[in-house]
Amino acid sequence: MDGGYLAEMLDLDGEVLADHLSAVTEWIAGHLGDRSVHRILDLGAGTGTGTFALLSRFDQAQVTAADASASMLEHLTDRAFDRGLGARVRPRQVDLDAQDLPAGPFDLAWASASMHHMTQPEKVLAELRTALAPEGLFAMIEFETFPRFLPDDIGLGTPGLEERCNAVADRMREEHHPTVNSDWSTRLSENGFVVREERTFGIDLPAPLSTVAVRYARITLSRLREGAGEELSAEDRATLDALLSEHGPDRLEARADLSVRSARRAWIASPA
Ligand SMILES: C[S@@+](CC[C@H](N)C(=O)[O-])C[C@H]1O[C@@H](n2cnc3c(N)ncnc32)[C@H](O)[C@@H]1O
Repeated sequence: MDGGYLAEMLDLDGEVLADHLSAVTEWIAGHLGDRSVHRILDLGAGTGTGTFALLSRFDQAQVTAADASASMLEHLTDRAFDRGLGARVRPRQVDLDAQDLPAGPFDLAWASASMHHMTQPEKVLAELRTALAPEGLFAMIEFETFPRFLPDDIGLGTPGLEERCNAVADRMREEHHPTVNSDWSTRLSENGFVVREERTFGIDLPAPLSTVAVRYARITLSRLREGAGEELSAEDRATLDALLSEHGPDRLEARADLSVRSARRAWIASPA
């Protein structure tokens, strides 16, 4: 259900949730203490949301940004040069299910919203154990709750639209990515890692949203419409279309009641 929206959605995610990302990298830095961080691996880097947050937190570091998608890496590389960070980013096109991890040793590895995409996470974790430097850490983040933007009753159609959309999307995600709701703590432990800490980072941006956050809502709900729309009732589809219309009176941009509510689960682990 990625359509053409994924790259823009990932960029907006990084921009709108910059404070959240900063809180996560600060938490990781706390675990690293005074160890210096020179080499970082971003697994499934996408458009570089994590890569740039890590470069900003660890100012001596270079990030190897690994992703299977050439277009994601091209986008990430362009952004790195636009920000004057080209020399600190090493893009590597690699299908982590089939090919070896980029060579380490890495002081820190990061995987945000990417491990559930791997069809063989055990393989990736086994390679990661040897790619990490002594005392190296693995930080992993997955969605606990996918972003919600609408109030329950939007004054159009039947209340609960977004919950129904997300119920369909959650089911489809689980069909495509069977590990999406894994107990990652157990999975990490069973694959030779010690989980040092696990916690939830809540995200709550109140109404009214900034223009860029409303754009994030539009792109996210457009992806839901594209991916899950056919499984919704005709009434819900029509309501979603009214919200997503560019110029109609019910378009998202005309609403002052949108907010961003989400939660992400994060783990910090090291090889046993
Ligand atoms: C949801 S995106 C997350 C991107 C980024 N980590 C972020 O937080 O914005 C998942 C990324 O994992 C990548 N990916 C999926 N399967 C992969 C694989 N087998 N090997 C490498 N990358 C993969 C996709 O191309 C995509 O860029």
